[in-house]
Amino acid sequence: MSSFLSKFCQTARLHSLRFASVATNTNSLTQRFSSPTLRITSVQLKEKELSIQWNNSSTVDLPYVFLRDNCQEPESFDQVARQRLFNPAFTVDLNIRATDAQVNEGGKQLTITWPDGHHSRYKSTWLGRHCIGNTAMSGRLPVETVYWGGDYYDKMPRFDYEMLLEDDRCLLECLLKVESHGLVLIENVGTQLNQVKRFCDRIYYPKPCIYGKGVMKVENKPNASHISLTGVELPLHNDFVYYDYTSGLHILHFIHQVSDPTAGASQFCDGFHVAEVLRERNRAAFDLLSQYPVQFVDAGCDVLGDYDTEAWHNTISVSSNGEITEVNYSNHSRGPHIPSTLMDKLYEWYAAYYELSHLLYLPDYMIEFKIQPGQMVMLNNRRVLHGRSAFKVQGNEYRYGEICYMDWDEIRSKARVLMKKLSLTL
Ligand SMILES: [Fe+2]
Repeated sequence: MSSFLSKFCQTARLHSLRFASVATNTNSLTQRFSSPTLRITSVQLKEKELSIQWNNSSTVDLPYVFLRDNCQEPESFDQVARQRLFNPAFTVDLNIRATDAQVNEGGKQLTITWPDGHHSRYKSTWLGRHCIGNTAMSGRLPVETVYWGGDYYDKMPRFDYEMLLEDDRCLLECLLKVESHGLVLIENVGTQLNQVKRFCDRIYYPKPCIYGKGVMKVENKPNASHISLTGVELPLHNDFVYYDYTSGLHILHFIHQVSDPTAGASQFCDGFHVAEVLRERNRAAFDLLSQYPVQFVDAGCDVLGDYDTEAWHNTISVSSNGEITEVNYSNHSRGPHIPSTLMDKLYEWYAAYYELSHLLYLPDYMIEFKIQPGQMVMLNNRRVLHGRSAFKVQGNEYRYGEICYMDWDEIRSKARVLMKKLSLTL
């Protein structure tokens, strides 16, 4: 997929970063059951499940209640809206059992007969994509998560701005790379205002927030409510950890920079990678950071008026299968309150927090470079931490950019729409 699309992205430098990559059981399930050549070779009626044998030498047992629940026939499923039509309060039989199952069309279709005479037909590709446990096919885009470290700058996927606006394949490749790597660089944007908005509108729309209704300025302000709008060092962090629903991504365009080569440089770190490193070297510390929530706050005044936000998040969020799903880290936005349940482990928690903080800045994991005027970065705000070195404003020496936020729902929606439009499957 990547190599196919990359032919259309002339400035995109695509790399196969395989080090420290995540190869979960879910991913391997995805690969095994997403092939368009997947066929059913035989089926067997069991007590509670239908056992399906595939031409990839796999066997999957699907419970009858799941198969009946996911009947794709017009009586059960609206063919246009792609939504269920029945009400489980009245029509579900937990102990339903198929009376017959037949493989049709050379293994490309399964037909099940139910006790009331209803027939349900399923395509083999649908069953493969939706077999229980194959959860990677829902939610995130089906690309492999690739962790990166301190040598990422030279390997970072790069895209040409105008091509992203004009070429669907290039845009899709960009969205997939943000999903897999969490950070991409967009070049040749120019230094005109409103380019971030143009790019967001190409996908869906910029997300309003307490700092503005769409596009926000990144510049020094007198009496700023946030240190990101001053010249002091801005430590690595995620934005909007003081929101209950933190922003999915942010897109930052630089229009003017200070000339001092070391001042105002951006720093980025793959939080998922570092969290995984912490889990391997100090499991107790990882568990503390993934079990106890931290208070985050931000209060002040911006163009929309006064604001006062507060939210609590675990520093590391982990899914039920152990996958790291979020890193919530912003030392400057961390509030003073401590959960009462943490009081007897407070020193251990601080030790874990400081260990993570130290790891984030190691050269093995953090990159630092100066975003130049005419460049734009797009990053996964729940995964990639960002910061910048200090700088001074004097005369024509100032730093100015524009930033927009988006949510992953719209990004992934756009990517799926583009995949359908381009008749591509992963
Ligand atoms: Fe930030």
